[in-house]
Amino acid sequence: MINYTEKIPNNVDLGRDRVLQRALEHWQPAYMGWWYDMGPNESHNYEVYLRTAISVEPDGWAQFGYVKMPDYRWGIFLQPRDEKREVNFGIHKGQTAWQEVPGEYRSTLRRVIVTQGDTEPASVEQQRMLGASCPSMYDLRNIFQVNVEEGRHLWAMVYLLHRYFGRDGREEAESLLARRSGDADNPRILGAFNEATPDWLAFYMFTFFTDRDGKFQLCALAESGFDPLARTCRFMLTEEAHHMFVGETGVGRIIQRTCEVMKESKAEDPSDVRALGVIDLPTIQRYLNFHYSVTLDLYGSDVSSNAANYYTSGLKGRFRETKLNDDHVLTDAEYPVSEVVGGTIITKNVPALTALNERLRDDYIDEIADGVGRWQRVIDSAGIPFRLTLPHKGFHREIGNFAGQFISPDGEVLSEEAWKNHEFEWLPSPKDYAYVLSLMSGRVVEPGRFANWIAPPARGVNNQPLNFEYVRFN
Ligand SMILES: [Fe+2]
Ligand SMILES: [Fe+2]
Repeated sequence: MINYTEKIPNNVDLGRDRVLQRALEHWQPAYMGWWYDMGPNESHNYEVYLRTAISVEPDGWAQFGYVKMPDYRWGIFLQPRDEKREVNFGIHKGQTAWQEVPGEYRSTLRRVIVTQGDTEPASVEQQRMLGASCPSMYDLRNIFQVNVEEGRHLWAMVYLLHRYFGRDGREEAESLLARRSGDADNPRILGAFNEATPDWLAFYMFTFFTDRDGKFQLCALAESGFDPLARTCRFMLTEEAHHMFVGETGVGRIIQRTCEVMKESKAEDPSDVRALGVIDLPTIQRYLNFHYSVTLDLYGSDVSSNAANYYTSGLKGRFRETKLNDDHVLTDAEYPVSEVVGGTIITKNVPALTALNERLRDDYIDEIADGVGRWQRVIDSAGIPFRLTLPHKGFHREIGNFAGQFISPDGEVLSEEAWKNHEFEWLPSPKDYAYVLSLMSGRVVEPGRFANWIAPPARGVNNQPLNFEYVRFN
């Protein structure tokens, strides 16, 4: 169980290491300063019906109750240690899993942890203004839940930095509070985390697509030979599932509402659909194209010697590494990657070790395709002849083999000019953003009421009714 009488709740016996405890207690006010400045806007007095982790056991790990967000108990929770755990891949395969950082991998591991840690506060910053335009109290509570948990994920990474990386780690922990999403001088590390999340459709797309990138990165790190990292990530994954649920059901409810209105009114043309105050399906497709392509870039270059090194050294595994049936060393294995040669997309085999980014991206795409299929079923069961599709992997990419190419969603290699002529058929235009934003000019917060452009969810949070008072504004 987690000791909640301590200043920093934890299950890592923090009280036994006074130096570490003091260092983290020193970082805590800086974190609170960041939360007050960059956490959800004007929310500090709200009482929010939140879940808080109370144990790391799979059953009953969370407790629900009203919390003012600045009083949320951000803590340090690791999955319990398995004494028999080994390094399961790479050249150290078969060694006992490391409890301390191997000296030769110190800077690599630090960079991996900082890169993951940086995404957590970034998304809170990206979402901080959305409370003012929420479609319901239920949704407002959900975004706050996501935000406090991203804050906790930052704590998780900062614990590792402080505990295992000494002075360098402490400096990195400070920098994590200093960078700002979208800031020209001191931006967040990865591209997608510097994009704006201007409206709720973008928020749901972000939690569906980009939080799922988080899931896949965490899954790969949960395989790490560095055991404290693996155990930290395993517990983070428990929380991450809810974020993706918010995204998938959020987009699904928007689609559902649009389809209901289209059926009732027999409107088909996007401008007629918009006149009824809901989001037309082609606009949803364009948002999907944007968030999907920007998130694909987060996996990095298709062919990467860094990825090979992370794997060979035992620092970052593949998705479900221990469930895979091969030698877990990959010296002779190959993997297909695509590139553009002479105006056409070709696929060729490269050493599997160098293609691990691409492989993780492909695993991610499989899961994404399932989710998009579930959205499609909502459209199909309304009897509306519209197909949501995932664009080609090379569409709108800035990193990897497709960077600098102009690929259509169908996978056609185009000239820059031809691509630009279609840009706003494929990606949201300023007019699309303005329209979506116009639907969200104020917040809907009477218990049980939902904005016109989104259907209510199938059920409330923690078996509470839909008209439960999920947020008390005081
Ligand atoms: Fe997270
Ligand atoms: Fe998340």
